[in-house]
Amino acid sequence: MTDVFDPWSPEFRSAPYPAYARLREQSPVVWFEPSRQYLISRHEDVNALLRDRRLGRSYLHVATHEEMGRAAPPQYQEPFWTLNNNGMLDREPPDHTRLRRLVSQAFTPRRVEALRPVVQRLAGELVDAFVAEGGGDLIAQVAEPLPVTVIAELLGIPEADRHALRPWSAAICGMYELNPSRETAEAAVRASEEFSEYLRGLARRRKQDPRDDLVSALAAVEGLSEDELIGTCVLLLNAGHEATVNVTGNGWRALLLNPDQHALLKADPELIGTAVEELMRYDTPLQMFERWVLEDIEVRGVAIPRGSEVALLFGSANHDPAAFADPSRLDLTRRDNPHISFGAGIHYCLGAPLARIELAASFGALLSKAPDLHLVEDPVYKPNYVIRGLERLLVAV
Ligand code: HEM
Repeated sequence: MTDVFDPWSPEFRSAPYPAYARLREQSPVVWFEPSRQYLISRHEDVNALLRDRRLGRSYLHVATHEEMGRAAPPQYQEPFWTLNNNGMLDREPPDHTRLRRLVSQAFTPRRVEALRPVVQRLAGELVDAFVAEGGGDLIAQVAEPLPVTVIAELLGIPEADRHALRPWSAAICGMYELNPSRETAEAAVRASEEFSEYLRGLARRRKQDPRDDLVSALAAVEGLSEDELIGTCVLLLNAGHEATVNVTGNGWRALLLNPDQHALLKADPELIGTAVEELMRYDTPLQMFERWVLEDIEVRGVAIPRGSEVALLFGSANHDPAAFADPSRLDLTRRDNPHISFGAGIHYCLGAPLARIELAASFGALLSKAPDLHLVEDPVYKPNYVIRGLERLLVAV
């Protein structure tokens, strides 16, 4: 059955949803030898396992690599893992609880809400420039610069240094794909070293001479070590834009291929709230998240022993007819929409309110300023599976 699941093939990656339907129906819990994981494809199971404390994003809080029967990562990858393991995403309680609480003291709802007018102005400016040029690559000209600028502003990364953020982030995110190559790992290690070094310098400057930004606020938080501060900044910078770029690109692709829905949204801008949620569901930006199994579990009669890894197929869960009426239809008015694109449980996306502000602003600006937006070529997806997004989206206004 797992032969329908082939995340390395461009055909599967460009249209994974029919294969997911077969997995959900015939093998909702199944061993997948190429990545040595159990694939979990039904919404109910993905949602339950995200909340199940017998699983974790890490196991290092309860066992060593040897005790879990896993190989430790090779020594040369140490800079990447140090950085990765110092952010909250790959920590589990009680550390995760402490880190999330400390970061939330600085990354407050008030700070996020204060960004709303800034995001709207920026989205307006980017779209004005895009329209003045008659269109172009919506990814490079609108989808990327908006969240990158917003997260850089929020953290207080000086403008002159921002050009490095995308390449560092892309190199690090290569490690989150399935079975990364040696070359990918080496690039991630180099980026981790450079990014950490850069942020260490910035954090020390801000500690001495604080400004009104998140790096200064985090540097002032008692109980957050310098390595945790750096891990947090990298997590915020990466998580703070990668997925948003892809929701924008995938969302516009979906709208332009469904002209009735595009027309509906133009006619009724009030739909933007449900539309953003539906676009996040319809072409899920993060297709898969993994969990380690910390105690023996059983899912739909399949015994999954401690030390195993499960792959939670978000894209599949978001298209499960048991959770969504007519899931392969793009319906911007969908109200009953329990999509899990922001996750669930203790790691639920910390940036969801900011992402929603950014998406409403950029979709809103493009809808009003470029009402005749149309495709110039068939959109092509990047050769990634986990972080699903377009290489480019050429459109004319
Ligand atoms: C549409 C855009 C976004 C999507 C789809 C998204 C999705 C997710 C998902 C699925 C998780 C949980 C992963 C898991 O459980 O394994 C997560 C966690 C996280 N996200 Fe987002 N995210 C988005 C935007 C953002 C933004 C803008 C920020 C920050 C400014 C952000 C910061 C984080 C952080 C810090 C975590 C870790 C939370 C924890 O471990 O407790 N995300 N995100």
